Amino acid sequence: MKIDISGSGIAIENEKKLLEASAASYDELNSGTYEYTGWVSLPHSFDKELLEDIKSTANEISAKCTLCVVVGIGGSYLGAKAVIDALGGSAENRPKIEFAGYNMSASTLKKVMDRMDDEEVCLIVISKSGKTVESLLAYSILKDKLFERYGRDEAGKRIYVLTDEEKGELRAEAAQNQYKSFVVPSDIGGRYSVLSAVGLLPIAVAGHDVGKLLDGAADMALDKEWKDTLLHYAVSRVALLRDGKCVEVFEYFEDKLKYFGEWLKQLFGESEGKDGKGTYPACLCFSRDLHSIGQFLQQGSQIFHETMISIENSEYDFEIPEHAGYPYAGKTLEQINNCAEKGVILAHRKNGIPVITIEVPELNEYYLGKMIYFFEMSCAISALQLGVNPFDQPGVEMYKQEMQKLIREL
Ligand code: PA5
Repeated sequence: MKIDISGSGIAIENEKKLLEASAASYDELNSGTYEYTGWVSLPHSFDKELLEDIKSTANEISAKCTLCVVVGIGGSYLGAKAVIDALGGSAENRPKIEFAGYNMSASTLKKVMDRMDDEEVCLIVISKSGKTVESLLAYSILKDKLFERYGRDEAGKRIYVLTDEEKGELRAEAAQNQYKSFVVPSDIGGRYSVLSAVGLLPIAVAGHDVGKLLDGAADMALDKEWKDTLLHYAVSRVALLRDGKCVEVFEYFEDKLKYFGEWLKQLFGESEGKDGKGTYPACLCFSRDLHSIGQFLQQGSQIFHETMISIENSEYDFEIPEHAGYPYAGKTLEQINNCAEKGVILAHRKNGIPVITIEVPELNEYYLGKMIYFFEMSCAISALQLGVNPFDQPGVEMYKQEMQKLIREL
């Protein structure tokens, strides 16, 4: 994997103070004394027994069902969705994964329920707090459907709960009904939890190698050569924001990365966006968005910088037939896709747009683990340089309070 920060236009050698402060934050995050930093050492200190339990529970779920519905929102959903989608969905002979509880649209839930009718089903419900309305309501409706179909006893063997060790309604319910459960570690916040049971259980149910995901993340965490790259990325983002580039556009030429982009949006948006600060994270999927928002990038308000994630080796490729004519015939679709990618970088850089590039050899568990850790760590560092707490989200409470008032008035 190669990350080239030089296209950011920020001369790191002129950002000595910021670099020193970022290095201090890196050490602080690694010291184990900072609140909510359980994710920092997680990949290389993962409890072996717990990992085995996650894998064997995933196999048990896989043996019981053809469809596994995962209920959760925010950090209790996006990480698993990002990794499973990036890996092309479930592996052969493993249950399909459907997500629910990430909104309260009745038609979204109806679609999931209709799908459940034709499949053998298990339910995983994930909520660290155990009190998130979106997740709990979807869970209550889906659980009833399971009770109706399988009866309480059998349904109970198909429900898996991931929540806080002690607090919240879900923990009490899991204990009372003896549902198989996992603990969401108290020192890891939702958006940093994909490498805990929160992400690993659904990813393992889908048949992917969670050990390799952790290995990739551990290599990123421990290999000191990556430390500089991490710091330079964090420093560039902060310097670019200072220089008026208040939007970071994450972009890719691979549809499978759409939800990785959604995960990035949550990670950066919820970690940095507070006290009137932060870089707004946006995601674009090319070529589609080149024919819409691409115009804005090239010639609109220059308030953004770009981070291009490119995948070197695609899983499939097609030779372009003779009748497609010159200059396409005989080349492959991925070769042309690469030209589009390089063309965008050249055209945007000619226009003075800062473009950072991340080259990933292929989309597999190992490199996804590496990317996840790279972004988690650099996000926490850059948030600390802005003077905000990367691990809270006080603003999210505001809509909840207004919503609760309205619900009570119904
Ligand atoms: O990053 C976060 O902490 C949030 O996005 C949470 O993951 C999200 O609000 C869901 O919370 P919970 O897992 O408590 O249901």
